[in-house]
Order: sequence, then structure tokens, then C-alpha cells
Amino acid sequence: MSAGRIVIAHLSDLHFGAFADLAQIEALETFIPTIGLDAAVISGDLSQRARHGEFQAAHAFVNRIKPHAPVVVVPGNHDIEWWKSPLDLLGERGKYRKYSRYFRELRPVVEIPGAVFAGALSSYGVAFGSLTWNIRDLAVKGHLPASETDRVTGIFAKAPPAVAKVLVFHHNVLPGALSRRMGLARWRSTHRRLLATRADVILCGHDHQEGAGQIGGALPVSTSGTHSARVRGKRPSVFNLVTIEPSAVHIQHFRWQPATREFQPSDTYSFARAGPPKVAVSVAGGDQGL
Ligand SMILES: [Fe+2]
Ligand SMILES: [Fe+2]
Repeated sequence: MSAGRIVIAHLSDLHFGAFADLAQIEALETFIPTIGLDAAVISGDLSQRARHGEFQAAHAFVNRIKPHAPVVVVPGNHDIEWWKSPLDLLGERGKYRKYSRYFRELRPVVEIPGAVFAGALSSYGVAFGSLTWNIRDLAVKGHLPASETDRVTGIFAKAPPAVAKVLVFHHNVLPGALSRRMGLARWRSTHRRLLATRADVILCGHDHQEGAGQIGGALPVSTSGTHSARVRGKRPSVFNLVTIEPSAVHIQHFRWQPATREFQPSDTYSFARAGPPKVAVSVAGGDQGL
């Protein structure tokens, strides 16, 4: 942290396994230590099929970043073995057992000087809260129960006003620019609860296309891309550099350049740091929840 600034590398959807782009992974490993980070965040989908080898590769990647910055990791829909307990008929714990073996916390809370990171669990697989009328959403869509947003609200309420409050989960809360899809079921009510957490910024992924915007005209959102071959619209992969200042949040895209095998700084979006919670929601797109 320098003079009230917090700098975060926001990565997502690494998808270790058949689709991971190792050139990008290796470029991240060499580039991230040069940025001067306060923290790195990986907002889920570390694996493709929740296999041991995929988690082991992801774990090794995290360990290579850790000497340079604390790393906050949350699980994505690809990281859980929902088929071991569809609709939680056999309990919840089994489907997270493999992920937890490598990354321990499903809901990590990390404090550093000047910032607190709260991870929220949005990935439940085939679960009642994530069900919609669209069959394509099955085991893909996520949801954020009130228990999760209430827990995060409590964490952030204990932090002094000047401390940056960073909320991390997997599913995108803004519609993808190409997909036009929301990651979360029942997003309207979720947006209201997210605004009430008093977070300064939300970091999420899942859409496989980068994004930067706000919900409720007040709360900045960073959506990071993917470092796998499963990019949207054949566009280059992107990770986001998020800088939180006392009165602003900046989200800068770093785009992958296949020809030179490096990430180049690109578009930057700046938002006022979130003020008092507002109730109005100003996001286009239909609510796909039941
Ligand atoms: Fe993904
Ligand atoms: Fe995902």
C-alpha cells in the first residue's frame, strides 16, 4: 500500500486442465511480481473438472505468486463436485472436499494493511437457489444466499471507514457484453443486498469476458476474463488491475498479446468509491431466476 492506495491483480477462470493457456500462466508468473501488488485475487474456476491434477497445478501457481503478494482464492462452479450431492441430498460438504483439500477456505477473509477481502460462496452446483427455467443454467448458474451477504456485511461493518472493502465471488453480477448473461440467479434482489454490504468494489469472473461497471450506480464491479482457450468471441484474454484510492476505484484491463507473449496495459475505467447504499438497480437484461 502506498499513501492510501491498494493495488490488486484480479485474475479469474484459469481452468487448469485441457484448456489452460500455459503461455499466459507463465507470463503471469513473471509479470505479477513486477507490478508492486498489495494482493492478488483469483475469483474461481481454477480447474476444468475439479480433478486432483488440475487443483495441484492451480495450487503450484498460487504458491509462485504468494511470495510477492497475499493471494485470495474462491471456488467457481467448475471447482465443485456437485454430482456427489445433487440438490445437497447427501449434504453439502462432499462436493467441496477436493477443493478444500488444496485451498482450505470456501469463504476466505484476508486482512492486509488498508484493506479487508471477504470471499463469498456463489458456487453450489445443482442447488435449489441456483435453479432457473433455462436448462443451460444447470450447474452453471450461481446464487448468493442472504446468509452470505449478511456475513460479508458484518465483516465490512467492523472495518474502519478508510479501509478498502473488497468483496470476491465467482459469478458475474453484470451481464456479459457478448453473452448478455448474468452469472447469478435472482440478481435483482442480490444487487440490493450487495449494495447493503458497503463493499468498495466487487471482484468476480465466470463470464470469460472482461468487464468493468457499477451496480446501483454506486458499487464498482471488476469482471476478470479467462486464461484458458475458452475465451468469448475469440477476443484476447484479459486480467484486471484494480486500484483503490481514497475517493476512486480504477479498473485497468491488461490484454494478452499472443505474438509477443505478454500482457499489455489497455482500457482503464474509473469510478467513485462507493458511497451510502442506494436501492435503485440500473443494469439492463432480464432476471433469469425463477
Ligand atoms: Fe470459467
Ligand atoms: Fe464459472
